[in-house]
Amino acid sequence: MTAAVEARSLTKVFERGRRTVWQRLRGEPDQRERFTAVDSIDFTVEAGEIFGLLGPNGAGKTTTMKMLATLLEPTNGEALVLGIDVRSQPRDVRARIGAMLSGERSLYWKLTGRENLEYFAALYHVPPRETRSRIDAVLAAVKLSDRADDYVERYSTGMRQRLALGRALLPDPPLLLLDEPTVGLDPQAARDLRDRVRELKRGGRTVLLTTHYMEEADQLCDRVAIIDHGKIVALDAPAALKRTIRAEEVVRLEVGLAGDGAVLVDHLGRQGRVAHHDRENGTLNVTVHCDSARDFVPAAFDIARGQGATIKHVEVVPVTLEDVFLSLTGRELRE
Ligand SMILES: Nc1ncnc2c1ncn2[C@@H]1O[C@H](COP(=O)(O)OP(=O)(O)O)[C@@H](O)[C@H]1O
Ligand SMILES: [Mg+2]
Repeated sequence: MTAAVEARSLTKVFERGRRTVWQRLRGEPDQRERFTAVDSIDFTVEAGEIFGLLGPNGAGKTTTMKMLATLLEPTNGEALVLGIDVRSQPRDVRARIGAMLSGERSLYWKLTGRENLEYFAALYHVPPRETRSRIDAVLAAVKLSDRADDYVERYSTGMRQRLALGRALLPDPPLLLLDEPTVGLDPQAARDLRDRVRELKRGGRTVLLTTHYMEEADQLCDRVAIIDHGKIVALDAPAALKRTIRAEEVVRLEVGLAGDGAVLVDHLGRQGRVAHHDRENGTLNVTVHCDSARDFVPAAFDIARGQGATIKHVEVVPVTLEDVFLSLTGRELRE
């Protein structure tokens, strides 16, 4: 089967002019600054999967999506979308994909939801005989059937974003490109939009999306490419990415004890890897990376009892993609 997207050494270099108007009038040579926004990335999106590009602001996600949607020409490398070359056959690519690159800003607020879809159906050359049924199907898919005849200006942000997704669905595309589909949505609207994306996958469509929310990439995507400074630094299923962190789980302990706790920390360190410990007001805080909290926590209680200490609080948190990003880049994903 043809891959939904194949990017090979895909690169985008932006040139920023640095010549002032006066320099230009004097005929001075243009000093152009080259900036590599997407730096020779390789990835394949298989048909039927939800694939995520995860990275912080400025990582090159939107630039990548725009090249795949044929809105920006690659500087180097190649990209096949549904087997079609974005460079040589951009019109064929555009006719076959659904893209939501700027979300609600691409809608007409003074029209109703249905009128927006009618307008874009004409623009996308949906056959007139199919338009009505296609729009009804799209409205149902994005759960807007009952609000179809309200003006978009009366929609919530989440509803507008769903309508923008509906717009992308109008050509009945096998592949959807969604650039930060949940950015700016409240948690419930974001959850709702993720549900719609999962339904698209169940309906047999392929989804390539970008996000800077690690939880979103983790929950929604079959595979994730972590992108930073225009380069893909890791690519795998979320669970596999998290397995690259040596710990399976992170345990945080608050221990009440009299002494300085050095012996206790030493003993805990034999059961897991002590990532951090500090003392404040008679409480020892210890963060331990371990393979299994189920094994570690009972052992920790035994150790504490043996030292005449009491564990006042235990918190077990799973390894997240944040830990993966941190270990790969030395920086936090969250701003
Ligand atoms: N048209 C452009 N001209 C020059 N630089 C650009 C242009 N578009 C984006 N960039 C730069 O390329 C980098 C990647 O941007 P972008 O792809 O929008 O990142 P992301 O979507 O991951 O936040 C940023 O540093 C941005 O400033
Ligand atoms: Mg972006």
